[in-house]
Amino acid sequence: MTSQTRAEQSPTEQSPTEQTPVARAGAEATDLRLARAALERARRRTLALTDCLDDEQLMAQHSKLMSPLGWDLAHIGNQEELWLVREAGGRAGLRPDLDRIYDAFVTPRADRPALPLLSPDEAQRYVAQVREQALEVLEGADPADPAPLLNGGFVFGMVAQHEQQHDETMLATHQLRRGEPVLHAPEPPAAPADAAGLPREVLVDGGEFTMGTSTDPWALDNERPAHRVHVPGFWLDTVPVTCGAYLEFIEDGGYREPRWWSQEGWAYKEKAGLEAPLFWRREGASWVRRRFGHTEPIPVDQPVLHVCWYEADAYARWAGRRLPTESEWEKAARHDPAAGRSLRHPWGDDAPDDTRANLGQRHLQPAPAGAYPAGAAPSGARQLLGDVWEWTSSDFTPYPGFAAFPYREYSEVFFGPDYKVLRGGSFGADQVAVRGTFRNWDYPIRRQIFAGFRTARDASVAEVG
Ligand SMILES: [Fe+2]
Repeated sequence: MTSQTRAEQSPTEQSPTEQTPVARAGAEATDLRLARAALERARRRTLALTDCLDDEQLMAQHSKLMSPLGWDLAHIGNQEELWLVREAGGRAGLRPDLDRIYDAFVTPRADRPALPLLSPDEAQRYVAQVREQALEVLEGADPADPAPLLNGGFVFGMVAQHEQQHDETMLATHQLRRGEPVLHAPEPPAAPADAAGLPREVLVDGGEFTMGTSTDPWALDNERPAHRVHVPGFWLDTVPVTCGAYLEFIEDGGYREPRWWSQEGWAYKEKAGLEAPLFWRREGASWVRRRFGHTEPIPVDQPVLHVCWYEADAYARWAGRRLPTESEWEKAARHDPAAGRSLRHPWGDDAPDDTRANLGQRHLQPAPAGAYPAGAAPSGARQLLGDVWEWTSSDFTPYPGFAAFPYREYSEVFFGPDYKVLRGGSFGADQVAVRGTFRNWDYPIRRQIFAGFRTARDASVAEVG
């Protein structure tokens, strides 16, 4: 464990919500109410994702890429026991004997079905018992506690984010699972009236902005610290690339033309036999997709989903463009030139709600491109948070001054050229695990995640003035 300086106020971040929890007098009770609400929301979702399947389905491996859902369930409880009950709470814990079985670093996903796993009933009881103790720890906690795990209620936020991240992974397992639909949700809102008339791209002026955070109490180690980054002027797609636009790439022979692909991308595409996004299938003259057990026509106005980084990169080249860098993405999403500071979310510092972003599995698909005008960034770009994770061109690397917290395996062991950064969160990401600074990462071949992308291009000197 490191002595991360989470309590330091960055001189470059002046937002009221960027104050440290210690500095926010009287806010302690609110912090812990938020923490409890986040933990409870995560648990309702976890149970909804597991209660809908029988024991056999919960213990089955629906894809080699994924754990059995029963593993995720008990792993959620085990991490909560480890970090919240034992480390932060100083308690003996319930089942230290489970640590090895549910350690993601000990057993790769493909091998997890062979472990001596808890049955679904045992796992349900276990996570409930851990939660009981976790809430006792929360009752006695003080967000002003200087201990790094407890300061600002960090450990509660971390554990809630961890559960929600697994819930999104479990949702991806549901998507890979064959069989009748078991998950249900209302349709996302229709595109607003102005969607069709939106400019294709928005201009983000060149200059410095504040990237990352030193003060967001629940930000994870890889989002820290805040630092100034100079980003030259660039143009960014106003909305994510749609299924309709992506279809044009397919129909134009994009998957048959090596010049649009990086060398590694082409080699992978050939080896894996890629011809379209995952879950798409040609039916006669048109395309359909499978989505949580339903087969349906491709929704041409929705952001494209289930493409790997290599496909996103090839599309961008075909379109005469490129993927945005991670710092470009964050500047477009957070930098408010009028206020001269970075916002917590594209629309400001207020928490997400259902008028601003498609998050939290409220819908089981992205909303049409151009939706959520109330969630637009100062740059004018829409849907930067929610709907689909967005691939960036950047490798996952530490910010200057990075310090691993609370354990190296959270981020540090993943830094390097093997992983590409994704930003913004999907319809399957919860608001506790998404913000303007939040960084996700994955291999460039991954397609089962809820990822799409948008494209960018350099601005000319004349354009940026
Ligand atoms: Fe985990």
